[in-house]
Amino acid sequence: MTYETIEVRKLTPAIGAEIFGVDLAKPLGNQQFQEVHDALMENLVIFFRDQDMTHDQHKDFGRRFGKLHMHPSSNPVSQIHPEILTIKADGNSKYVAGEEWHTDVSCDPEPPMGSILYMKELPPDGGGNTLFANMYRAFETLSAPIQKLCEGLVAVHDGAQVYGGRFGRTPPPGKSFPRSEHPVVRTHPVTGRKALYVNRNFTTGIVGLRKHESDALLEMLYRHSETPEFQCRFVWQPNSVAFWDNRSAMHHAMWDYFPHSRLGYRVTVAGDKPFLRA
Ligand code: SIN
Repeated sequence: MTYETIEVRKLTPAIGAEIFGVDLAKPLGNQQFQEVHDALMENLVIFFRDQDMTHDQHKDFGRRFGKLHMHPSSNPVSQIHPEILTIKADGNSKYVAGEEWHTDVSCDPEPPMGSILYMKELPPDGGGNTLFANMYRAFETLSAPIQKLCEGLVAVHDGAQVYGGRFGRTPPPGKSFPRSEHPVVRTHPVTGRKALYVNRNFTTGIVGLRKHESDALLEMLYRHSETPEFQCRFVWQPNSVAFWDNRSAMHHAMWDYFPHSRLGYRVTVAGDKPFLRA
């Protein structure tokens, strides 16, 4: 891929690239928007340094890629910005968002296409990195019989396991946490490539399998997709931005800095219903 308005430096051969030459606070021109989009499709997660954005500019950048997603169990930054999630941990935290491998809100019937995290404060002694894994690679490196098996399967993704279980929250009055069934292998709507689509956070079982079969198969798929060679690790600085594609990558926020604080804001771009094209 060649780029004219941005510079793209890969972090690893598998996933991740740092982007230079973009000011996210300003509206992107059509060509630069297209190149940022292409870089995301090519690298699955892209990173920007030294950005200075207001909440409105953050949302405007997200809106270039689609409608903004509203989190079903969220911690919005304010009533004025209900689309912005606060990602915060400190000495009082009992859990942090994303501390297990996952793709965002895969329990939704139409899970988000992408997420844009703007980091503002980091722990003083380092830590708080985010790991990303290439789920195309996870699918493509399975043996042909297991690929075939997985292509015929559908998994349950249940928000109650995370928001109710780990986070100990109760759903809003009269509502329950989202729970959806998605194909275990999904076709990316833009690239047409197949990606594995199960994760430890939200996936609770595979439809039609006995529990011990489902548990064993999922554990095998999780371990396989967490292979270090499929990953990159992003070391944040204040004012860094990461934009990941939830349809082709999963991620894991390291909580190795307790009791120190880390603070960022996330805008999430809506997606569509996962499908598998034969
Ligand atoms: C998330 O899953 O959005 C959190 C990622 C992070 O805090 O690095």
